[in-house]
Amino acid sequence: MSDSTSPSPKLRSRAWFDNPENIDMTSLYLERYLNFGLSLEELQSGKPIIGIAQTGSDLSPCNRHHLVLAERLREGIREAGGIALEFPVHPIQETGKRPTAGLDRNLSYMALVEVLYGYPLDGVVLTIGCDKTTPACLMAAATVNIPAIALSVGPMLNGWHKGERTGSGTIVWKGRQMLAAGEIDDAGFIKLVASSAPSTGYCNTMGTATTMNSLAEALGMQLPGAAAIPAPYRDRQEISYYTGKRIVEMVAEDLKPSDIMTRESFLNAIVVNSAIGGSTNAPIHLAAIARHMGVDLALDDWQEHGHKVPLLVNLQPAGEYLGEDFYRAGGVPAVVNQLMEQGLIHEGVMTANGKTFGDNNRGVAIEDEKVIRPFATPLVEEAGFIVLKGNLFDAAIMKTSVISPEFRDRYLSNPDDLDAFEGPAVVFDGPEDYHHRIDDPATGITTDTLLFMRGAGPIGYPGAAEVVNMRPPAYLIREGVHALPCIGDGRQSGTSGSPSILNASPEAAANGGLALLKTGDRVRIDLNLGTANVLIPDAELAERRRVLMEAGGFAYPASQTPWQEIQRAVVGQMNTGAILEGAEKYQRIAQT
Ligand code: FES
Ligand code: MG
Repeated sequence: MSDSTSPSPKLRSRAWFDNPENIDMTSLYLERYLNFGLSLEELQSGKPIIGIAQTGSDLSPCNRHHLVLAERLREGIREAGGIALEFPVHPIQETGKRPTAGLDRNLSYMALVEVLYGYPLDGVVLTIGCDKTTPACLMAAATVNIPAIALSVGPMLNGWHKGERTGSGTIVWKGRQMLAAGEIDDAGFIKLVASSAPSTGYCNTMGTATTMNSLAEALGMQLPGAAAIPAPYRDRQEISYYTGKRIVEMVAEDLKPSDIMTRESFLNAIVVNSAIGGSTNAPIHLAAIARHMGVDLALDDWQEHGHKVPLLVNLQPAGEYLGEDFYRAGGVPAVVNQLMEQGLIHEGVMTANGKTFGDNNRGVAIEDEKVIRPFATPLVEEAGFIVLKGNLFDAAIMKTSVISPEFRDRYLSNPDDLDAFEGPAVVFDGPEDYHHRIDDPATGITTDTLLFMRGAGPIGYPGAAEVVNMRPPAYLIREGVHALPCIGDGRQSGTSGSPSILNASPEAAANGGLALLKTGDRVRIDLNLGTANVLIPDAELAERRRVLMEAGGFAYPASQTPWQEIQRAVVGQMNTGAILEGAEKYQRIAQT
């Protein structure tokens, strides 16, 4: 490793700040960065300029603690001989953004690419956390390919209510059922939900945030053990300091995302996702990162490499515990070590700390076997996703680790295996339609019904809404029915324990098979064969398609903002990452 404080001719920032060929531009670049206190010596000494891509703000409370952690990052950067330049990343708050936070992942990606490419940055710290902030940052780092390291903001402390753990999101789904059944009132509902958010940080369940932060570590893009540390813990401050130091060394070593995020590291992430009970949003985001990295990764890889892996982590929604418990039990390294002992991990892949994934995690013990189970005694065998196809869509996934005993009893007669079931469809066109009609007896929902949500994909409800986990009507909940099969072209929150069949691609708004479905059609789902088909003759389907196309295709609401219109015109489907199609051709652009 070279001395990171000595001038390096390779630093791209020198083309801005120390370019004798173009002295008048150099002076212009220099003078404005001097005006807030940086010195000429710092800017021209060849010290690496390190960006801090700041995702925290008052609008992004999940990531807001990064505003504090940035101080420790700066100290680490400076101590290792770098200069920190902090800048804002377009905010993505999962719980605050209308119509969906999903709409802004690609916007944030695109804007971050422009910053990383267009400014004098030699390396960058990606401050990740809330669901879409992690993929947006990793996608941009993949495209630009300057040395990059991720720093998780960490989960909130555990939530508590009357002596029980209350987990982010998961308590909302439970509370909605209690509200629908008349067990609590509005004030009780808000109090229950608020109890799950006792501190700064992101969702404390194994929702999409904990999933994606864990996978950023599994991909090798964070320091080992960094993902699970709760936001308010002192260890979080410490890892921020070390992350700051490390990025300066990475610049000196020219260790880039392309050296770390290889196909093998994506396969590691898939295996880890099954073992942690990760979110159904993970396949979308990993596909997006992989495409921007130029790595081949197919949705079928999730079933091939992930389905047989057992669930080891006992976190809500698949289990009982929360983020603090996960950290104390050993976090991602303890899980990886269990998987490594079974030969399920590619150990030789490089990671951000300059060591291999295997060397980082080998021998890390589980500290609490209630929270992280040993491989021999998992919570669920074969806990990964299965991929379904048929005449309703080309691809959708189902998270098998969250199939409840009640659901299994009602739909899956063979207790040891997945099974097939069929029933009449009730179709909702978007979440508003669902909310209007779900509790109306005239909608005709019975325990045989399969609930369908369409018009909720990347084009139809721009960004794709997290709405496929539909609760049964209140009159069925009062009879003890807590879940009906849900199928749709939207997403669902990683905090939902619903075994929905979701992320269906192509979506109805792209005139996929779901656009042809009618309420009352019988649909057969075969989880063993991985099929989902509406049981009507092909000729009838062809006739429905003819009528649909004659009417101008599947109708969806008009765009409300310029970005909605732009994204809808170029966004791809979820099975291939829902990226801005065409953007993937811009690869490793810092080297051009
Ligand atoms: Fe931001 Fe869950 S809402 S992490
Ligand atoms: Mg979400």
